[in-house]
Amino acid sequence: MADTDSISDSKEFYLNTPQVADPFPLKGCQNLDWGMKNRLAHIFSPKSGRTVMLAVDHGYFMGPTSGLERIDVTINPLLAYADTLMCTRGILRSITPPTFNKGVVLRASGGPSILKELSAEQVAVSMEDAIRLNVAAVAVQVFIGGEFESRSVHNMTQLVDAGNRFGVPVLGVTAVGKQLTRDAQYMRLATRICAELGATYVKTYFVDQGFETVTASCPVPIVIAGGKKMPEADALNMAFQAIDQGAAGVDMGRNIFQSEAPIAMIQAVRKVVHENMSPKEAFDYYRSLKESAPSR
Ligand code: R5P
Repeated sequence: MADTDSISDSKEFYLNTPQVADPFPLKGCQNLDWGMKNRLAHIFSPKSGRTVMLAVDHGYFMGPTSGLERIDVTINPLLAYADTLMCTRGILRSITPPTFNKGVVLRASGGPSILKELSAEQVAVSMEDAIRLNVAAVAVQVFIGGEFESRSVHNMTQLVDAGNRFGVPVLGVTAVGKQLTRDAQYMRLATRICAELGATYVKTYFVDQGFETVTASCPVPIVIAGGKKMPEADALNMAFQAIDQGAAGVDMGRNIFQSEAPIAMIQAVRKVVHENMSPKEAFDYYRSLKESAPSR
């Protein structure tokens, strides 16, 4: 039996102290439930409110694209530097170490390959399996202006309904068809439709003119895709501009895993996203890391 003699009677109820409640760091997410917010905190750093998502889901329609031929060899060494991994359930189960304890954003739409009409995608993962895989969010492609626009929007709303039931956020991914203009007007339209119809956060592309109007008119966080490989200095500059104009992070693939030095590159991207490092400083940082470990 415990010795009760030493138990103190004094108690402190802090009667003059209002309940401590830190604001949730993501815009438009204050009214979400605890589980949803907790999952988002596995994607976005609670400290900076931002994220570096490492996107390696390209194989779901492109097959083994350059840099992703052997994900075990080229991507797993990058996991230590990512806030979140975006991938398919096939890659997650077959190659990703279950000891990876950061957020996973699961690609949940698919169907057509790069050889076909991509906007014909359908939901490709059940919410039950997403929860079994303990993911932080599911991602679904939305093809505004595409041939199968309504179907892709319906894919998203189906996942939003299922995600709301179980506290799983949905990332609406705005896909840009070959025939559509990548400008701020289109991005405002696509991102706003995703948010209005329930996406917890939205992925889009950076545009040089007016990107701040895209983030301003989207009521939930926006992350940018990296897009096609470009010189490292340009990719770091794009990431900086996007963050500076209101993005909450990047979901970057090819500009990291196709870089001459992927480990150096992802660390430089982190500096931009989480510490507002200038593009020039970040590029210098990239080069210094690359020179000190030239093989990666
Ligand atoms: C593309 O459809 C995939 O969803 C990628 O996750 C996305 O495009 C981001 O990768 P990247 O930075 O290579 O564009």
